[in-house]
Amino acid sequence: MHTWEMEYERKKTTAEDAVRLIKSGDKVVFTHAGSEPMELVDAMVRNANSYRDVTISNLVTLGKGEYSKPEYKDCFKINSWFVSPCVRQSIADGYGDFTPVFFHEVPYYIRKGIFEIDVCLAMVSTPDEHGYCSLGVASDYSIQAIKSAKTVIAQINDQMPVVYGETFVHISEFDAIVEASAPIPEMKIPEIGETELAIGRHCASLVEDGSTLQLGIGAIPDAVLASLKDKKDLGIHSEMISDGVVDLVEAGVINNSKKTLNPGKSIVTFLMGTKKLYDFADRNPGLEMRTVDYVNHPMVIAQNNNMVCINSALAVDFMGQIVSDSIGTKQFSGVGGQVDFMRGAAMTLDDQGKGIIAMPSVAKTRDGRMISKITPFIDHGAAVTTSRQDADYVVTEYGIAKLKGKTLKQRARNLINIAHPQFRDELAAEFERRFLTTF
Ligand code: COA
Repeated sequence: MHTWEMEYERKKTTAEDAVRLIKSGDKVVFTHAGSEPMELVDAMVRNANSYRDVTISNLVTLGKGEYSKPEYKDCFKINSWFVSPCVRQSIADGYGDFTPVFFHEVPYYIRKGIFEIDVCLAMVSTPDEHGYCSLGVASDYSIQAIKSAKTVIAQINDQMPVVYGETFVHISEFDAIVEASAPIPEMKIPEIGETELAIGRHCASLVEDGSTLQLGIGAIPDAVLASLKDKKDLGIHSEMISDGVVDLVEAGVINNSKKTLNPGKSIVTFLMGTKKLYDFADRNPGLEMRTVDYVNHPMVIAQNNNMVCINSALAVDFMGQIVSDSIGTKQFSGVGGQVDFMRGAAMTLDDQGKGIIAMPSVAKTRDGRMISKITPFIDHGAAVTTSRQDADYVVTEYGIAKLKGKTLKQRARNLINIAHPQFRDELAAEFERRFLTTF
């Protein structure tokens, strides 16, 4: 038996016992997205009555978020760095909170102690013959959280893929080990309708052969990918990827051959899709996972020639201020990597980078009203995610509005021209009131 195997046996325990290492007042972080260790999180929630004021922080979560329910509000405090649906209500109701942060800065915040971590709950693959486990579907801030936490509890999951790159952690870094086999949490693949396909086609018209792509979350990135089947030699340098990328790699459209940074490899910091994506990533030398302070750093992104970044938004005002993470005063999601990539694309060394915000022209509000997502003013209390100086292209199903370098009036005209026809007259009248000139 190797020394690490003896250490492994010594640290092995049950989830019930492991979560007793969490103490009242601790700050707890989970490894990210599909790496959330459900077995440990469930055990922690079952043990809730033993805790007071345990702070829970994470970015995207695919878990149940039961710790954020009102009945646990004295046991767990939510401080999210991105608001996923399962924790949204706790923040809306005032007992949870949110910290705005650029995704690429999260490992730095952890290293500097700006984000303190007492306990990290991690999910990793089974160890290899040297005692190294892979974090599989998320490297991002997860590795830094493991290094900085005072206590690390690991769920060893034999269903976690082994993904190459900066994902390996030695079992000596764990204080307690819990073996629990479970499917990797999956993201529901959004349905792509006519609107998304039209948006996808407009975005595809901005993508040249040989481009390197970043794609955000949601139906629109998938629709863009579906419109790229006739392109050649595309590459990936993206915060995350989902199932749509697998089809384009298998079709030979994405081959990373023209990449100026990390040629031959898709570079990502986390994976979020279905088992199809996770199987594709398992021991795939064509895919490399790096930490988010590398992948999302604007100066790293800028080293990719023909970089095209595609993200989405909730609303865009006449000046090109992009609201992506709040609806009025309600915190809806988070900054994530949107600004990292908008800025990285703007700084590209070949001057060819493009930052695209792609969204449907209208949305349905909770009370069933149809509203224009292109608006004269941002909603009261809403936060600007991407500033008007950083805005480049906005795309809806009605076309493309170029904003960079444009005046206030040119921006507003370009945006109104891609608004839903039902709202254009109303928006043109607002234009005339605001700019005291004809539309
Ligand atoms: N006012 C009110 N409600 C609005 C709205 C607006 N202007 N725009 C959208 N909505 C509603 C929608 O109707 C929908 O409601 P529902 O949940 O009841 O169906 C909801 O808000 C979400 O809108 P949708 O267009 O389906 O969102 P999405 O899943 O495509 O995600 C963002 C869009 C902007 C929320 C998402 O891309 C995001 O969080 N971005 C910020 C972070 C980021 O860009 N990261 C990039 C790297 S991954």
